[in-house]
Amino acid sequence: MASSIMEAQTTTRFPNHPAMIFPVLLLFLRASAAAIASDTLSNGGNITDGETLVSASGSFTLGFFSPTGVPAKRYLGIWFTASPDAVCWVANRDTPLSNTTSGVLVLGSTGILRLLDGSGQTAWSSNTTSPAPAVAQAQLLDSGNLVVRGQSIGGGGVLWQSFDHPSNTLLAGMRLGKNPQTGAEWSLTSWRAPNDPTPGECRRVMDTKGLPDCVSWQGNVKKYRTGPWNGLWFSGVPEMASYSELFSNQVVVRPDEIAYIFNATADAPFSRLVLSEVGVLQRLAWDPASRVWNTFAQAPRDVCDDYAMCGAFGMCNVNTASTLFCSCIVGFSPVNPTQWSMRESGGGCRRNVPLECGNGTTTDGFMAVRGVKLPDTDNTTVDMSSTLDECRARCFANCSCVAYAAADIQGGGAGSGCVMWMNYIVDVRYVDKGQDLYVRLAKSEFAKEKRMDVARIVLPVLASALALTSAGLYLVWICRLRGQRRNKNIQKKEILGYLNASNELGDENLELPFVSFGDIITATNNFSEANMLGQGGFGKVYKGMLDENKEVAIKRLGQGSGQGVEEFRNEVVLIAKLQHRNLVRLLGCCIHGDEKLLIYEYLSNKSLDSFIFDAASKKVLDWPTRFKIIKGISRGLIYLHQDSRLTIIHRDLKPSNILLDADMSPKISDFGMARIFGGNQHEANTNRVVGTYGYMSPEYAMDGAFSVKSDTYSFGVILLEIISGLKISLTHITDFPNLLAYAWSLWKEGKAMNLLDSSLVGSCSPNEALRCIHIGLLCVQDNPNSRPLMSSVVFMLENETTALSAPKQPVYFSQRYSEAQETGENTSSSMNNMSVTVLEGR
Ligand SMILES: *[C@@H]1O[C@H](CO)[C@@H](O)[C@H](O)[C@H]1NC(C)=O
Ligand SMILES: *[C@@H]1O[C@H](CO)[C@@H](O)[C@H](O)[C@H]1NC(C)=O
Ligand SMILES: *[C@@H]1O[C@H](CO)[C@@H](O)[C@H](O)[C@H]1NC(C)=O
Ligand SMILES: *[C@@H]1O[C@H](CO)[C@@H](O)[C@H](O)[C@H]1NC(C)=O
Ligand SMILES: *[C@@H]1O[C@H](CO)[C@@H](O)[C@H](O)[C@H]1NC(C)=O
Ligand SMILES: *[C@@H]1O[C@H](CO)[C@@H](O)[C@H](O)[C@H]1NC(C)=O
Ligand SMILES: *[C@@H]1O[C@H](CO)[C@@H](O)[C@H](O)[C@H]1NC(C)=O
Repeated sequence: MASSIMEAQTTTRFPNHPAMIFPVLLLFLRASAAAIASDTLSNGGNITDGETLVSASGSFTLGFFSPTGVPAKRYLGIWFTASPDAVCWVANRDTPLSNTTSGVLVLGSTGILRLLDGSGQTAWSSNTTSPAPAVAQAQLLDSGNLVVRGQSIGGGGVLWQSFDHPSNTLLAGMRLGKNPQTGAEWSLTSWRAPNDPTPGECRRVMDTKGLPDCVSWQGNVKKYRTGPWNGLWFSGVPEMASYSELFSNQVVVRPDEIAYIFNATADAPFSRLVLSEVGVLQRLAWDPASRVWNTFAQAPRDVCDDYAMCGAFGMCNVNTASTLFCSCIVGFSPVNPTQWSMRESGGGCRRNVPLECGNGTTTDGFMAVRGVKLPDTDNTTVDMSSTLDECRARCFANCSCVAYAAADIQGGGAGSGCVMWMNYIVDVRYVDKGQDLYVRLAKSEFAKEKRMDVARIVLPVLASALALTSAGLYLVWICRLRGQRRNKNIQKKEILGYLNASNELGDENLELPFVSFGDIITATNNFSEANMLGQGGFGKVYKGMLDENKEVAIKRLGQGSGQGVEEFRNEVVLIAKLQHRNLVRLLGCCIHGDEKLLIYEYLSNKSLDSFIFDAASKKVLDWPTRFKIIKGISRGLIYLHQDSRLTIIHRDLKPSNILLDADMSPKISDFGMARIFGGNQHEANTNRVVGTYGYMSPEYAMDGAFSVKSDTYSFGVILLEIISGLKISLTHITDFPNLLAYAWSLWKEGKAMNLLDSSLVGSCSPNEALRCIHIGLLCVQDNPNSRPLMSSVVFMLENETTALSAPKQPVYFSQRYSEAQETGENTSSSMNNMSVTVLEGR
């Protein structure tokens, strides 16, 4: 996450608002005002605050600086001369000089660098253990490395170098790794905040216990691993190879060094790998023409990169139509199917048929699982000299060995070398150009395999389907029991109790009430027209009164879903578990023959669109209220995307799906609809895209590819609508095909404030509004990778001092939109409290 936070911290471009770039530059201008035009500090020399060392070709500068917005703290650091806010090394991270510009860096006669504060106290020093040299000098190299050399020492004579003490940035030529002999480590440690270099809680280290593997930690939690080095790339990041003409990647394995190093070719742009405060590693490349840092690559990339996402023997696949990303490896089933269907897959999978290893004539075999990121190689047995056949034989001979793979794929073919996993494997996912993993299974599993021609493809799907079905059966059983035991009154009581329950965080053991169809008929006056709140592709919504005094909204789903009863029920239970202040609560459900109904909390105010697009109602929403709504929506989305542990992608965000409660707090509705319809949609008609044109991201509208970033896109559109009071499809501003093109044009001309709804004049905070427009434009960029995650969005909304990166022009949809309109536009009208969703043919 937080791509744009990090980018922002280092790029700070407000092209159209010179006033905003000024304070940032000011600090650095002061720092470089009296530069010493030299790259060398000689023995006994010093550098005072205001003086700098500049590397020979001018690429890097060493000097004193203060982070944006914290002028009282002074740090000694090295930054890219062309982009002074791109600080890549900081000496005194823990010990800033406070309120003084009288700091001085001194090179002592023993070759030790000392940073002294105004009173002569040492705030930081380089720690040289070598014997004192005759003469020492410090030089800032063009690589960004500050090197202290003793001239009496032969060879390189390096006493100390900044490259051996990385901060949060890896530059070309730096190491990330370990010295197995001394235990010394080269690792990255994040800053605590974008303007606070104090070591934060995220670390990036090289795990050398099995095969070399780069691992991100947050505190004591393993968050992400690249997968083991296979000679050409890290197993989980084959795309590394695709930019090898710019950056060559290598892992050096020697007795005194196991380290990852990247090298930039002569014509490659300046590049740096930065570990952000929240643990995201980004490869940024400097574009000198537009003077911005572009994000080349980022890790983690998606939910499947979360460490051990699917538990032991689980498999994560991000390219599935469902949001159930986990399945089990062939021959395994979920340990706890109910939990699994709830997307709590941490429990992992277990073997369907026990191994018969060690029982005389062993009958186990190995099944190839193709195209994966290899499991965690921590605690594995590695032998680089054996062949793959020898590897197989060794694994076969040891009953603890559950899987093996080639450790090195440089030679092509099946690869060479051997890595063997004992007892279990964890953190496996599909990747393009992934490797083959051979998993031990009982012989009988292979017979099954033969029966099913395409088992390799089908089985993982089947495993999750099985999981769903068995969970479904379980629920049916529960439901039957309940049906036998409970009468109407008890059910009503249950609803009431539920409605009154005040636990914000949700009760883990919560059971979803199933309401009888008879009660619903009564509540809605037999689905009378008078009770109808709205209508749309997924069905009609009625207002109802359950238990005399509880108002609810009842959604009667259309017959089109074709989804099985058990699956539906399963989904509903899952969705009922999602509880957040900014989500509409699902209170119950009802299944009666073909009828499927959902019961939601009733919200007295209407949906967002009935306010922002209505000449009279929009006056109710002053700026603080709109800002609150924007923040609320983004928080609800973070919860769906990551905090709920389930990763729900809404897929149909639009103002009519944002309801407002009595306090004008936003509540996202319909967040389960896409999924409830998803199963059917996947099987029946892959040409159908759930969503509404205008709010759908280009990649989703075009290819049906969705991710959390498609929600980010929809959010961006909604944000711009909230600010402008204009619909995405504005046709009355004739010069522009839609709101995005209009907003971009104003932004480019430096007139972004003209986008503001005229009813906001008076209540508006220009800074907040401008920032919102900026964030909106970041969210609607064509490339999903450029769009921020919702967590970054919230961060950017709430931290006014965070600098933002420059948005790119949203081109695609501006052109595409008119075509989409011809094929049939959004037919939903949402004058109602409960919004409706439209299924559009493409
Ligand atoms: C720094 O160098 C200047 C002369 O170049 C000298 O006058 C001054 O005392 C030095 N400061 C320290 C702290 O060594
Ligand atoms: C720094 O100086 C400012 C103004 O001179 C003062 O308000 C502030 O308390 C000082 N901070 C520290 C940490 O000394
Ligand atoms: C310097 O290094 C020694 C040994 O490596 C260590 O014990 C000592 O704490 C270090 N001192 C500082 C200031 O880092
Ligand atoms: C790194 O690249 C430079 C030139 O771009 C080359 O001279 C050097 O040998 C390379 N180093 C390695 C280790 O590949
Ligand atoms: C070995 O096979 C026998 C009979 O097939 C079975 O009872 C026993 O549990 C097996 N032992 C192991 C360790 O699998
Ligand atoms: C490796 O073993 C250590 C110590 O038993 C354990 O903490 C760690 O989780 C193991 N790693 C894996 C990937 O299983
Ligand atoms: C299997 O391999 C593990 C790990 O290398 C080893 O500890 C164990 O002794 C081996 N078992 C047999 C039966 O060879």
